[in-house]
Amino acid sequence: MSGVKIGVLISGGGTNLQSIIDNIDAGNIDGKIELVISNREGAFGLERAEKAGIKNIYINRKEFENEEDYNLHLIEKLKSAGVELVVLAGYLRVLSKNFIKSYKNKIINIHPSLIPSFCGRGYYGKKVHQAAIDYGVKISGATVHFVDEGTDTGPIILQETVQVYPDDDADDLQKRILQIEHKLLVKAINLFCTDRIKIDGRKIWIL
Ligand code: GRF
Repeated sequence: MSGVKIGVLISGGGTNLQSIIDNIDAGNIDGKIELVISNREGAFGLERAEKAGIKNIYINRKEFENEEDYNLHLIEKLKSAGVELVVLAGYLRVLSKNFIKSYKNKIINIHPSLIPSFCGRGYYGKKVHQAAIDYGVKISGATVHFVDEGTDTGPIILQETVQVYPDDDADDLQKRILQIEHKLLVKAINLFCTDRIKIDGRKIWIL
């Protein structure tokens, strides 16, 4: 594979998106972002894409009768942009079965904890970090994984840890983890783009 066409789905600020943009510019990812889609109007990530000259659109779920129609529209947009890899970079909706089938093993998500801890439905944003702090874990981290039909259940590509300190609050932990997310996601995307990820059931081999 070379020059893989990437589609990025976001819901918010898009610091992970920014990291992908910067690393493509720096030549660290053998790919190109063809399209950024946000399900939130005015998400700052859309501005980041615009500034980088990347096609970006807001798609309002409420304009569709049901989840399936909304997802079909997403697929249509991504396919017509030629997207081969879908990256979920802070996208706060669950994808439909059809979407996952259309991009089987070609959807990557980043989650700000060490899966299988503090993940699944309801674990998003600061809630993830608050749960880790409340539990009293000494380490947390970030996970990049393929997306399957569950929530945060697909095969794990990369994980990295950070320390959790007794006086951390959710903001502190979120900031510390975001820093490693930016590197980990870029690394995983480039592994995909250079065809170095082998999926063996739940196990991932990095070639
Ligand atoms: C990140 O913590 C990511 O792991 C999670 O949502 C957050 C998005 O942050 N899925 P940003 O929009 O990339 O700044």
